[in-house]
Amino acid sequence: MSEWSPSGWRQRPILQQPEYPDRSELQGVELQLEGLPPLVFVDEVQELNRQLARVSEGKAFLLQGGDCAESFAEFNTRHIQDTCKVILQMAVVLTYAGSCPVVKVGRLAGQFAKPRSSKMETIDGIALPSYRGDMVNAITFTAAARTPDPQRLLQAYHQSAATLNLLRAFTKGGLADLHQVHQWNLEFVKGSPLGDRYQNLADRIGEALAFMEACGVTLKDTPSIRETTVYTSHEALLLNYEQALTRRDDAAGDWYDCSAHMLWIGERTRQVDKAHIEFIRGIKNPIGVKAGPGMDADELMRLIDMLNPRNEAGRLTIIVRMGARIVDILPPLLRRVSREGRQVVWSSDPMHSNTVKTSHGIKTRSFNKILEEVKNFFEIHYAEGTYAGGIHCEMTGQNVTECIGGAQAITEQELTDKYFTYCDPRLNANQALELAFLISDFLKKARTTKNHGVH
Ligand code: PEP
Ligand code: CO
Repeated sequence: MSEWSPSGWRQRPILQQPEYPDRSELQGVELQLEGLPPLVFVDEVQELNRQLARVSEGKAFLLQGGDCAESFAEFNTRHIQDTCKVILQMAVVLTYAGSCPVVKVGRLAGQFAKPRSSKMETIDGIALPSYRGDMVNAITFTAAARTPDPQRLLQAYHQSAATLNLLRAFTKGGLADLHQVHQWNLEFVKGSPLGDRYQNLADRIGEALAFMEACGVTLKDTPSIRETTVYTSHEALLLNYEQALTRRDDAAGDWYDCSAHMLWIGERTRQVDKAHIEFIRGIKNPIGVKAGPGMDADELMRLIDMLNPRNEAGRLTIIVRMGARIVDILPPLLRRVSREGRQVVWSSDPMHSNTVKTSHGIKTRSFNKILEEVKNFFEIHYAEGTYAGGIHCEMTGQNVTECIGGAQAITEQELTDKYFTYCDPRLNANQALELAFLISDFLKKARTTKNHGVH
């Protein structure tokens, strides 16, 4: 593989970038960012690498989730706390169901930039640049708001720093206490119209906690009961920003993108000969790449060759987002990757191929379609003898009405009640938790069978 440098991507064609009116202002901001402290640290990133290696060996499960797009306006303690809470609640359910550690990775503290299907948006005959996330421009439909502003890169950096600070405090300071998380889950079960379906699992988790307590495993002397780690991740889309936060680790001379623990490349920018893949192949962070319905086995192998040439377990996560077509497209990919002995984590993003528009032009997703894709994902892996290693969701801790269905049975008419997303429709707190309860059965089956295979 050829030499790599943090700026090497600049020699390649690049897609999905904002057109800044003043390039020298952008360069000034890049210089400032280069001088700012890293947001995450090499030791943490290496620890996540080790945990993802466990996932690729079938010994842990990856839960990745959070906003489609974070925003500057919705930046407050409550929002971050609620998202963190749902991630922890889902993780407890999945940990128990899979009898394995759950690696928690938020789509937060940096998820501010969005790829768009059109460069321009036209309303009432007026065409303006599309909204590309708060890190680029503002969502308001005026020429001034839609003009890309490099200062927003700095604001995103500072918001990410403050978000990480809160996240570290929450996960080390009480919010992650297993008993408390379980208590929230009991409240969810009690309040859910389909609560009966979840009661049994919730009861068993309660018994397990009581058993541990009876054995003397208590909060005071067992840190893992009251603290955990939620790692951060976002799509590496704005490479000027990512490059500015890429730092060399003096110990081994390796490069790390210190804007987040994990970075992924989206479906629209994953071409092997273009800038995004060139950039991401050189950083030592664990990385992801989205695989939509257009992915074929040769293309996937080329990506794996570039992104994980040394075949390191945990380095590369393939985030499958294929919608109903997963049943035809995923099996040959799994066979090829297994046949060639490549180590990857397979994760399911059941959101991005299930986006539809209502007759009123509102973007939504159906809870049932989401569940169906995850179910297919698990069943295909089961049939192929491979490991379904994780899920990747767009969700929020708020009680929004953006996806239809679920036990609350949100209807198309109700979508406008609390529709706050800046981009794609998210599962609300109840829907996200419901998804965790529903997939716990698939996870359990997959893991018990795998264990039988090993013995
Ligand atoms: C996303 O994850 O928000 C996204 C844009 O996904 P994809 O690249 O899979 O379309
Ligand atoms: Co999205």
